[in-house]
Amino acid sequence: MSGWVVCRASPSLALLKYWGKLADGTNLPATPSLAVTLGGLHTDTSARLSDADSVMIDGEPADPARMAPFLDCLRSRIGASVRFEARSTNSFPTAAGLASSSSGFAALAGACVRAAGKELSPEDLSELARVGSVSAARSVFGGFVLLPAGALFARQAFGPGHWPQLRIVVAVTHRGRKAVSSRDAMRETSSTSPFYRQWVSESQALLPLALQGLADRDLEKLGEAVRASYSMMHAMMLAARPQLLYWLPATLAVMQACGELRRQGIGAWETIDAGPQVKILCLDEDAQRVIAHVKECAPGIDTFLCFPGEGLALTSAKEPVP
Ligand code: DP6
Repeated sequence: MSGWVVCRASPSLALLKYWGKLADGTNLPATPSLAVTLGGLHTDTSARLSDADSVMIDGEPADPARMAPFLDCLRSRIGASVRFEARSTNSFPTAAGLASSSSGFAALAGACVRAAGKELSPEDLSELARVGSVSAARSVFGGFVLLPAGALFARQAFGPGHWPQLRIVVAVTHRGRKAVSSRDAMRETSSTSPFYRQWVSESQALLPLALQGLADRDLEKLGEAVRASYSMMHAMMLAARPQLLYWLPATLAVMQACGELRRQGIGAWETIDAGPQVKILCLDEDAQRVIAHVKECAPGIDTFLCFPGEGLALTSAKEPVP
């Protein structure tokens, strides 16, 4: 058996959301997504060769049916019929709408490939990670990352140093696992929401605006596109049958707190994924004020302060990370 290899990846926060798949069954996104890799949060995944596949996430066995297509694709990519033992640890709540599958599959791809003694390019790692979870294609890269609709792999739009003043306040309103996974919710939305087709065309139209906001480091321009993307995604989910509602009272309180901050002239632009957490884009100089105000409006919530982070990397650890 080989020794352990440990890889680290950070979650990919979608500024423009991927929500919906192409119908060909190959896990390709129907909408473009643009994301920031969240420095300050990470998944560490240790892998080694073994007699049988087994993946543990935060001490719990991962669903073998979810892992099998990914591990089979990995074996065919590296041309070796090896099996893996992997252990993954998140520095943040798992399956709670904090994109743990993005960092999880990116780190798993990196660790297993290296444990098998192979190397893949970042593009090939991104394509492999996408088979596990579409958003994981983005976590392979640091900074600001684009995954066009229908693309096999993601690419970096701007490096982490492009906008060093940008901060992302992650407001954790509830630490539990979500009741409906992104994958199931996405399937229900695309098959039942009357707004799905419009969502696919509108999200394409938001991309140039968001890219321009990023290029100019213009928080308001970017923020408007970010807010439009998550608002449309959740409106579409509300209209699905059955209805999908991830928000809690504290989610709404944080959204309203951001609106109040903007009215006071502070750039605080929220976004929400498939869960009750709120992520707020702001500038470094405003971050403490944003944190204080959202905590006042939603007492008891936890916050993490994140920044544009690095992509997938091998660590020097030689043992599984506890
Ligand atoms: C709301 O990438 O977890 O976070 O491809 O089915 O594994 P699968 O879905 P996943 O969905 C992420 C949805 C999102 C938006 C985003 O990250 O773009």
